Amino acid sequence: MAREKLQREVWDHFGYAETGSTYRRNVEIFRKFLLKQRLFHGYTTADTTIELFNQKIQTPVFVAPIGSFHLVGPQTEVQVVSGTLDAKSLLFVSQFYNSSLEDLAKLPHPPMVWQGYLTSSYDDLAKKMRLAERAGFVGVGVTIDGTQPGKIGDRIIPGRGRSNPVMNDDIRKLRMETSLPFFVKGIMTAEDASLAVDAGADIIVISNHGGRIADYSRSPIEVIPEVIKAIGNRAVVITDSGFRRGTDVMKALALGAKAVLIGRPIVWGAAVGGSEGVSAILTKITEELRRSMVICGVPSLDKLSEKVLIRDAA
Ligand SMILES: Cc1cc2nc3c(=O)[nH]c(=O)nc-3n(C[C@H](O)[C@H](O)[C@H](O)COP(=O)(O)O)c2cc1C
Repeated sequence: MAREKLQREVWDHFGYAETGSTYRRNVEIFRKFLLKQRLFHGYTTADTTIELFNQKIQTPVFVAPIGSFHLVGPQTEVQVVSGTLDAKSLLFVSQFYNSSLEDLAKLPHPPMVWQGYLTSSYDDLAKKMRLAERAGFVGVGVTIDGTQPGKIGDRIIPGRGRSNPVMNDDIRKLRMETSLPFFVKGIMTAEDASLAVDAGADIIVISNHGGRIADYSRSPIEVIPEVIKAIGNRAVVITDSGFRRGTDVMKALALGAKAVLIGRPIVWGAAVGGSEGVSAILTKITEELRRSMVICGVPSLDKLSEKVLIRDAA
């Protein structure tokens, strides 16, 4: 439906790099993990509330930072804010939003976390982080997987042409600019997770950018266990890339992630139904998660563990 609503170039913009191998793996990998149904537990509902960024949030299903919501329509950024609020979720706001941080903060809004790219100048990032803090954002951080610009097929995404080295000293310095919880997004190995945590990250976002950067990458759900083993309780892990269903979310949370960010489905929801479309996507995935928790005999997210998962040997 979203495809019919969007112009061809806009739809194409939401694509993936090179052969699309990473994108396909992201959405298909969940088949390899099965859920163990349990019946003798007496629960008829489950609690999806979590605490993150010092907030109590009713769902671990959040909105990913997407820099190009404005391509969907001039009102889309504002609709994403109100749709996320209606779904009682949390919104990651990309540095590439057209709306200013102050304007977003003036709207009725959900808890918001600001995301910058290390490709920007240090001073600019530090300034925006301070602005976000003053405007009442609940967290800030940086996406670091832009060592090479994103691609759609073989084409470099316009406006993202600069590559940059990632040094954990830069992250260490930036982290000191704010007292808010600080995330680093784009981590795909235990080694990088440890370096980011050493540099002061409170939250690690395991992500392959929805398959827009590296082709033939592993999927985040394959990386969660090694990252958690490496960093232990020193930081919280959240993740994204390819999550479409509540059962997908359940599998990542069972492996130890605390929340999941949803990217393209939010774009599709906004294209089809504006603010209500955004809220419908978040609510549907949350409801699927809640249902699946009951089916597996898990009353609340703190009780969820790897015990509900089995690897599909088929
Ligand atoms: C069109 C588009 C724009 C994006 N813009 C950003 C961005 O500005 N900052 C960022 O950290 N990630 C960005 N991402 C990556 C998302 O935050 C997220 O990692 C990814 O979309 C998750 O995969 P999914 O779309 O399969 O859910 C973008 C992704 C897409 C598809």
